[in-house]
Amino acid sequence: MRKKIIAGNWKMNIKPSETAALVKDIAEATKAYTNVDIVCCTPAIDIPAAVEACKGTQVEAGAENAHWEEKGAYTGEISTGMLVDAGAKYVIIGHSERRQYFGETDETVNKRARAVIAAGLTAIVCVGETLEEREAGKLNEVIERQMNVGLKDVTAADCAKLVIAYEPVWAIGTGKTATPDQAQEVHALIRATLAKLVGADTAETVRIQYGGSMKPGNAAELLAKKDIDGGLIGGAALKAADFAGIIAAAANA
Ligand code: 13P
Repeated sequence: MRKKIIAGNWKMNIKPSETAALVKDIAEATKAYTNVDIVCCTPAIDIPAAVEACKGTQVEAGAENAHWEEKGAYTGEISTGMLVDAGAKYVIIGHSERRQYFGETDETVNKRARAVIAAGLTAIVCVGETLEEREAGKLNEVIERQMNVGLKDVTAADCAKLVIAYEPVWAIGTGKTATPDQAQEVHALIRATLAKLVGADTAETVRIQYGGSMKPGNAAELLAKKDIDGGLIGGAALKAADFAGIIAAAANA
């Protein structure tokens, strides 16, 4: 049995001064759901406030990106050591917005993911196709490439610190959700691809989240699917009641 994991991706939305209140509201609204891992991945500048507000709750703090080098002349970047020092536990890697707008490639996803895992943090590695790729019949090819290159040299032992998020790009922030069957099909492909990399037994232990307009109203039917082990939530993670509604669905799935 894989424990469900619901993570919020705050993107570039919440200020440091607003962080504690949102985390505390989420913790309060979800304290009954002890069978779900709950994470708030925030802008780097919010992390200290998020970590502080998470203390004594079951919510954990995470980041939205990390660099692969330990330190040095990399203006604007943040290292895994800084995130560990601040108390973050998770890092989103390879989100489609980083791929689309900031030049992230499968190769840099791989470097970041390995650095995150080596630092003892959990990497949430995102994969997903654009609408154009799906319509061109390239869904499997794209997912397999993102997995094979993005997770190159990630070992079976590393998988204890790995979560994968399937985020169809066409479903992010659009209100369009993949149907549960569409999502399950890709989650099964992701698990099968992972099995080739690290072995079937290990692949069975890795949690695969769905992301893309997951809301309280559609979470239960997505989370009922065999290979959907959680959610990576954008918009609905910014309102405690909505985020809690998704976590309730995960607790009951
Ligand atoms: P939305 O939930 O706003 O569609 O965002 C999904 C996402 O990108 C989470 O990483």
